[in-house]
Amino acid sequence: MLETECRTEFESPALDVQAIRKHFPSISKGRIVTNNAASTQAPKELAELYRELSPDYENVHRGQSDASKAMTTLFESSYDTIAAFIGAPSAKTIALFRNTTEAHNAIMYSLMTEFRDGDNIVCTMMEHNSNYVPWYALSREILPKFGIHVEYRIAPFDPNTGELDLDRFASLVDHRTKLVAASGASNFFGTKNPISKIREIAHASGYEQPTGERRSYLLIDAAQLVPSTYVNVQALDVDFLSFSFHKVLAPFGVGALYGKEALLGSMRPFLYGGDMVASGRVSPTLVRYNELPWKFSAGTPNILGAIVSAQAFRMLLDLALSPSEGRYFMTEKEIEPSAVKEAMDRVTAYNRSLTARALELISEIPGIKIYGPRDAAKRTSLVAFNVEGRSPHGLADALNEFGVESRAGCHCADLAHGELLIPASCRVSFYLYNTIEEVETVAHILDKIVREGIYAKNPSSHAVLATS
Ligand code: ALA
Repeated sequence: MLETECRTEFESPALDVQAIRKHFPSISKGRIVTNNAASTQAPKELAELYRELSPDYENVHRGQSDASKAMTTLFESSYDTIAAFIGAPSAKTIALFRNTTEAHNAIMYSLMTEFRDGDNIVCTMMEHNSNYVPWYALSREILPKFGIHVEYRIAPFDPNTGELDLDRFASLVDHRTKLVAASGASNFFGTKNPISKIREIAHASGYEQPTGERRSYLLIDAAQLVPSTYVNVQALDVDFLSFSFHKVLAPFGVGALYGKEALLGSMRPFLYGGDMVASGRVSPTLVRYNELPWKFSAGTPNILGAIVSAQAFRMLLDLALSPSEGRYFMTEKEIEPSAVKEAMDRVTAYNRSLTARALELISEIPGIKIYGPRDAAKRTSLVAFNVEGRSPHGLADALNEFGVESRAGCHCADLAHGELLIPASCRVSFYLYNTIEEVETVAHILDKIVREGIYAKNPSSHAVLATS
């Protein structure tokens, strides 16, 4: 069943994958990297860029040397690139943090003083812990200390399809819902949520915000969406959108929060200290904050991380549109929304072909249970599963011994695993450098492990504990 007779049907002309693979040293090393929902690989050009930046190594906004000025220019332009990639109107709408988790905490702490007794927050049962635990902590642990009682409500999913129950979700949103916090795509089911419908519900709530607007704010956790889907924050009309760059070819350590300019302008800062204050406006009696986006950039930032990450977005455009000749990487070329759309539509189509093949083959393995929608068009490029009688960690360890990189655990989607009464799952996830052949190899090896009852010779010692 795992022979490749149907392969041509699944091959997609959308991407020149062989040209793309030449940019990734890990691939040339022979690794089958199928843990991309956790982190993607970085192309070699980005490692080289770190080295190229070293002669100009200097702090930003904190020096008059040519090196500091050059680094400041590069750093500030990285905000423009990131804004352009997600269709944001300007760099003022971008705050850079360490990752998506920190972005969600930034919203939580910045909005904290705005919550009124009796308010609520609505999230979903398919959230990553980063988009649930802050709301839990705010409601249960922080605001009650100030005598303010805020409720969090969790919208369920259909356990058979892994799709959000929109009716139940709508029933939870009311005129006291200050914030709707929803995943753009689940990192466990892969489900892409209907953002426009979620937005309509949030906008119709009638909640009276301090600005006078009557609607719930909408935060979309786009950590699993931005890497493989065209996202235009203005077209989506979301208030906040968060994502981590290490899932989009960039190195670890930087992520973004997009926020509507008026909102970021009216919110309290998240972190307080250097550079987030207005120049000359700090005195024993009064502190004024810096203009956007620097109001949300306290302390010396991850300068090289931001610069290299912005180039990762330019690299992604090049890989999708013209992998053999760079058009955007390390240029000042303006990033047009049409180019991002074309590039990301190609990535979506390609990833969908990988996912469809994976779903088709993996579903034939005896005793397998695949989570999430069966239609690859409804999901991102990941497949999470369990096999009757086998531990997911044991499967991941056995896959690893055959050279297949997967992830076992709750993937920080503890709520969804709890709801399904499963302690963990095994997950494979694909990106633009994976081939159909690799997907077939992964499925073939998994099939062999299950049918032949193969166990890892060296199971991870932490396997049982590592569930999230
Ligand atoms: N949230 C990341 C994952 O899904 C780390 O693996």
